[in-house]
Amino acid sequence: MQPVTCNLFKHNSENCVTNSTNFVFYFKKLGLRTVVCRPLTMNILAIESSCDDTSAAVISNGKICSNIVAGQLIHELYGGVVPELASRAHQQHIVRVVDKAIQDAKITKKDLNAIAFTRGPGLLGSLLVGTSFAKAMALALDIPLIEVNHMQAHVLAHFIDEPRPAFPFLCLTVSGGHTQIVLIKDYATMEVLGETQDDAVGEAFDKTAKLLGLPYPGGPLVDKHAKLGNPLAYEFPLAEMPQYNFSFSGIKTSILYFLKKKTAENPNFVAENLNDICASVQHTLVRMVLQKLRRAARELGIKEVAIAGGVSANSGLRKTLHEMGEKEGWNVYIPDFQYCTDNAGMIAMAAYFKYLKGDFSSQEVSPLPRMEWG
Ligand code: KG4
Ligand code: ZN
Repeated sequence: MQPVTCNLFKHNSENCVTNSTNFVFYFKKLGLRTVVCRPLTMNILAIESSCDDTSAAVISNGKICSNIVAGQLIHELYGGVVPELASRAHQQHIVRVVDKAIQDAKITKKDLNAIAFTRGPGLLGSLLVGTSFAKAMALALDIPLIEVNHMQAHVLAHFIDEPRPAFPFLCLTVSGGHTQIVLIKDYATMEVLGETQDDAVGEAFDKTAKLLGLPYPGGPLVDKHAKLGNPLAYEFPLAEMPQYNFSFSGIKTSILYFLKKKTAENPNFVAENLNDICASVQHTLVRMVLQKLRRAARELGIKEVAIAGGVSANSGLRKTLHEMGEKEGWNVYIPDFQYCTDNAGMIAMAAYFKYLKGDFSSQEVSPLPRMEWG
């Protein structure tokens, strides 16, 4: 019989500790003779540092055991993320965040079998902190390193808890940097069907908040005020974009001119109508993304539909998606709040699937701020 090479330990199956109580064989389906020897208890530490949240999580045999997120309040002073300050804050937080994630998982560093990190997309300086930390830790512990694509991880967050979507499914990824409709064929094969041609929908929320004098990040505050307002109070134009693409720069400009006109008539217009303005803007943004998602689902005949990314925490989007799903006969998947915005739990989940395939990175790896979907 042809010898089988273990992808992880690079040894021959005849010398493998397969029969010991510590290891089991995992057969990789694609490469006939390639296997990974997998520890019976497999712990991966994951690090996320793509933007302004420093996060670490531990996943044990596919189950999240800890998920620590440290935000960065410093950016509030500037009304947006300042890249240089973000990377400095990551450096200040990362050791404590990683220690806490390991502690909460009730393991020690010696129990770790791999270190995962976000390779991109994101801010270069921020990514560098997580990447360097992960590389150093994997080297010191002599365990594999796993790179993860941040956007793929947002999608794979759906596999953390039940119910899990069935392949193929459609995912609307909505965050501060992305607005995309993605066809998910399996854990590793994802095709972007359409995306924003300018701003992301998260940016549209944040910029609206800024125009209204609300602090950064404004998306959650627009959501909060929208709950108390009338979504039909004011009308904003819906951008017409071809195929499954989006555009949010037009609505941003129309909100700006609307507010200028209204405050010229009444200087207290924003203060007196904040809830109605937020509700109307949110209603428009939610319609823009969900109309496209419905079109894609109908045209592709797909009934498994998910949302992911920071804006999937939006209450209006969650509620309207549920309603649309009922009408269209979809199975709808919405992540738990803690896995909507940036978190290392989703990085750990994505890394788990890569570990099973023996898909590891070398110590030469460097961050990719504009990393493409795999
Ligand atoms: O995924 P994420 O945490 O970071 C990126 O990868 O960009 O997304 C952050 C974005 C921000 O624009 C933030 O304002 C928005 O998600 N966001 C929300 C809500 N929670 C977060 N937007 C609207 N409503 C919310 N509840
Ligand atoms: Zn994100």
